[in-house]
Amino acid sequence: MSIREIVELILASKRDVVVVAIAIVANSIALLVSPYLLGLIIDESIAKGRLDLLPQLVSLLVVTVLAQWAAMLIRTIKIEAIGQRVLRDLRHSLFEKYVKATLDFHKENQLGDLVSRVVNDTSVVNEAIVTGLLNVLGDIVSMTGSLAVMVYLSPQLTLVSLVTVPLMVFIAKKLGVRLRRTWREVRERVSRMTTVVEENISGIEVVKSFGLEENALARFDRVSREVYRFSIRASVLAGLFFPLMNVASSLSLAVVIAYGGYLCLTGMLSVGLLVAFTQYVSRLMAPINELVFVYDALQSALASLDRIFEILRSEKVEADEGLELVNVRGDIVFDHVWFEYEPGTPVLKDVTFSIKSGEIVAVVGHTGAGKTTMANLLMKFYEPTKGKITIDGVDIKSVKRSSLRRFVSYIPQETYLFPGTIVANIKVVKPDATDEEVMEVCRKLGIHKFIEKLPNGYYTDVGEIGKRLSLGEKQLIAIARAMLKDSRIVIFDEALSSVDAETENMIKSALRELLKGRTGIVIAHRLSIARDCDRILVLSDGRVVEYGTFEELMEKQGMFYDMYKSQIEESISIQ
Ligand SMILES: Nc1ncnc2c1ncn2[C@@H]1O[C@H](COP(=O)(O)OP(=O)(O)O)[C@@H](O)[C@H]1O
Ligand SMILES: [Mg+2]
Repeated sequence: MSIREIVELILASKRDVVVVAIAIVANSIALLVSPYLLGLIIDESIAKGRLDLLPQLVSLLVVTVLAQWAAMLIRTIKIEAIGQRVLRDLRHSLFEKYVKATLDFHKENQLGDLVSRVVNDTSVVNEAIVTGLLNVLGDIVSMTGSLAVMVYLSPQLTLVSLVTVPLMVFIAKKLGVRLRRTWREVRERVSRMTTVVEENISGIEVVKSFGLEENALARFDRVSREVYRFSIRASVLAGLFFPLMNVASSLSLAVVIAYGGYLCLTGMLSVGLLVAFTQYVSRLMAPINELVFVYDALQSALASLDRIFEILRSEKVEADEGLELVNVRGDIVFDHVWFEYEPGTPVLKDVTFSIKSGEIVAVVGHTGAGKTTMANLLMKFYEPTKGKITIDGVDIKSVKRSSLRRFVSYIPQETYLFPGTIVANIKVVKPDATDEEVMEVCRKLGIHKFIEKLPNGYYTDVGEIGKRLSLGEKQLIAIARAMLKDSRIVIFDEALSSVDAETENMIKSALRELLKGRTGIVIAHRLSIARDCDRILVLSDGRVVEYGTFEELMEKQGMFYDMYKSQIEESISIQ
């Protein structure tokens, strides 16, 4: 099971595990020796008036105390080191899964949820299962040692000292467990509060335009009040719990002194041993809090562990194996391609067409016709349900994904820009490019002036002006990326939202420049763009209904003709 995998992760740091084991044993021994020494000092030196023994025995005591401290220090540091390593490995595996997972996987999982698994669940697992368990192991060793010595010194007194243990377990179960749950509630509410803040700030335009400010505030106040309520409850519980545990452990000390005092007075126990005994009792009791917490923490950590392994076991990963493409010419064929996202609802139906190397084909059709889906298939984001797609005659099913994607540039409808400068955003496709190279590319595309006009030109921080860049302007950056990548095949999915005339012209001429000498698929909403392409493919409800040159399709007076006419009329009526 998953616990086994965690144990394997822990054991991966073999050397640290050995050191921890040694430190635990050393710490326990030192813990057991010092009360005994104390007893010796009292019985052999003080009670017998042997001043000469005092310095030696006290020095020995100091040495054990120091040894105990050193062992504890090493134990703590090494356990933390093991924990951090497990944490790092888990996070690495999770994030690796995220970036290598298929798009399906990402559609199924919410962003916030994925973030929370990498950030929160891993640390819960680390705290409870790794450092928690290792520390408990250490505690159990020293508790067992204390108990053994106590039984050795006096079985009756040991029995007496344990009378408060049931009480402590009772308090721990009643209060301790509730305290921990309340802490968890606090954490949960805090993260809910974070979500409310995030949602309302990212949707601030909607909030304002619909006058929802007061609603937002009310929602925020509601969670904020809960954070307050649970935090107060937690502090009350903590205030009750920890002192009560102390009281219980002091009570057992009182019982030990009472009964032990009686044993001393009747000559059955020495004073030194009684003092030593009381120390063993506190050593036995001290970690009980800890044990209760870890027990409860373990239960919630198992849930986190499930969430982590649910992702790690997911099989929705893009395998990166198959043929390596070399020197792609750029002949593309869709050969009776069928595709469905949901079984039973085909989105592409028997799509067949071919594009010769160097040709530019426009794909037009109403929203939902399946245009973007075609691009997704060509990028191998998804596999056709039936039929095949070939590049230069090779079925892309058998081609290595990374190899395929090296030869295809995809400019999606909505370009994502990473935080950082414009120039860095263009360079993501070719990290070793120089800034000068990037500018050269932009000059060629005719967008140099546009970028220069931004507040800091090429070095403008996208984070700072992100909201000011329109979808169309972001696409210009994406075109520059594609140009720098210099791939044989280009897929361009025109931005849907209204792009102003100036940007539209920039996009058109940049695109024309980019497509020179390449094979291109241009998903066009503005049919004037389609007009510039070599051929036009009309897609309707997942089927190819027309395929030909602009002139041919106009002459045919079919679907494209109608779409074109209505768009022209529309633009005339707007003017
Ligand atoms: N991930 C998906 N899961 C299920 N259905 C999808 C998914 N993506 C798109 N679709 C559906 O597939 C059809 C074609 O979508 P799409 O290719 O985006 O159309 P277009 O780009 O032509 O507007 C639509 O009916 C859409 O709802
Ligand atoms: Mg689309």
